Amino acid sequence: MALVTMKEILEDASKRSYGVGAFNINNLEFLQAIIEAAEEENSPVIIAISEGAMKYGWVELLSSMVKTAAINTKVPMALHLDHGKNFDKILTAIRYGFTSIMIDASDKSYEENVKLTKEVVKVAHPLGITVEAELGRLLGKEDEVESDVAIYTDPDDAKRFVEETEIDALAVAVGTSHGAYKFKGEAKLDIERIKKINSLTGVPLVLHGASGVPHELVEEAQKYGAVLKGAKGVPDEEIKKAIEAGIRKINIDTDLRISFLLGVRKYLSEHPEIFDPRKYLGEGRAQVKKTVKKKMQLFSSSGKA
Ligand code: G3H
Ligand code: 13P
Ligand code: ZN
Repeated sequence: MALVTMKEILEDASKRSYGVGAFNINNLEFLQAIIEAAEEENSPVIIAISEGAMKYGWVELLSSMVKTAAINTKVPMALHLDHGKNFDKILTAIRYGFTSIMIDASDKSYEENVKLTKEVVKVAHPLGITVEAELGRLLGKEDEVESDVAIYTDPDDAKRFVEETEIDALAVAVGTSHGAYKFKGEAKLDIERIKKINSLTGVPLVLHGASGVPHELVEEAQKYGAVLKGAKGVPDEEIKKAIEAGIRKINIDTDLRISFLLGVRKYLSEHPEIFDPRKYLGEGRAQVKKTVKKKMQLFSSSGKA
């Protein structure tokens, strides 16, 4: 089927209380892995392309691949711009047929965030394109300051933000961060905050930085030479509680990157004589597929397409 909007996917997730994975891609192999997993799990799926991915994978090529793949796929699929920061990139994504856009002005003041988000809503909504925005600030890649509870999303601000901007989905800061090093101490999310924001806003909530960075995966990658000392992600139990509390879209990139890395490293170390890229990239792809399937089961989106 043709691409659907993210709004349509998230509405069903809200109605039936499950989470949907938004998986980042930069190239062909990740896309194939995600689609095969979604088909086998009979799960709706969101393909996420960041501004960096638009550049690396050539947005005209990446978006054509996704649109062609969607037509030949049975499960509902949305194509989403992840962390759109520049208005010209947002317009480019719209031009190439993305069915969902994230405007990330979370590093700006509340007023500036509202203003920029409203500008995107004004362009996207008449075209039937979903808009996600973020309030509060995640650590890691988005910010270099030390963890501080003051940057968590404030529930009353969230209510006002959603009313003022009329967005379709809200990304919240509740304890996660991007990348492989999310927690120094206990790995916990502010579940009560999610519940409160959910009850006040009524829009589907988005969890960025949701990778689990599973111990087994990290250990195995390290066996083949990866250096990931101190890597730590969000435990599966916290993800389940977050979904119960109202999280509907769950962003996963790091777990796919580590899975791919494991596949490629393992293959190359076991077959030093091989130089056919289809062999080692194929093994990376197989590992990504395995991880995506596990996520779909964890989020309970399996069987919901
Ligand atoms: O949160 C961002 C995603 O992990 C994409 O990362 O900007 O390096 O493509 P990227
Ligand atoms: P991870 O780094 O935890 O995979 O988060 C990805 C993300 O939030 C993409 O927007
Ligand atoms: Zn993110």
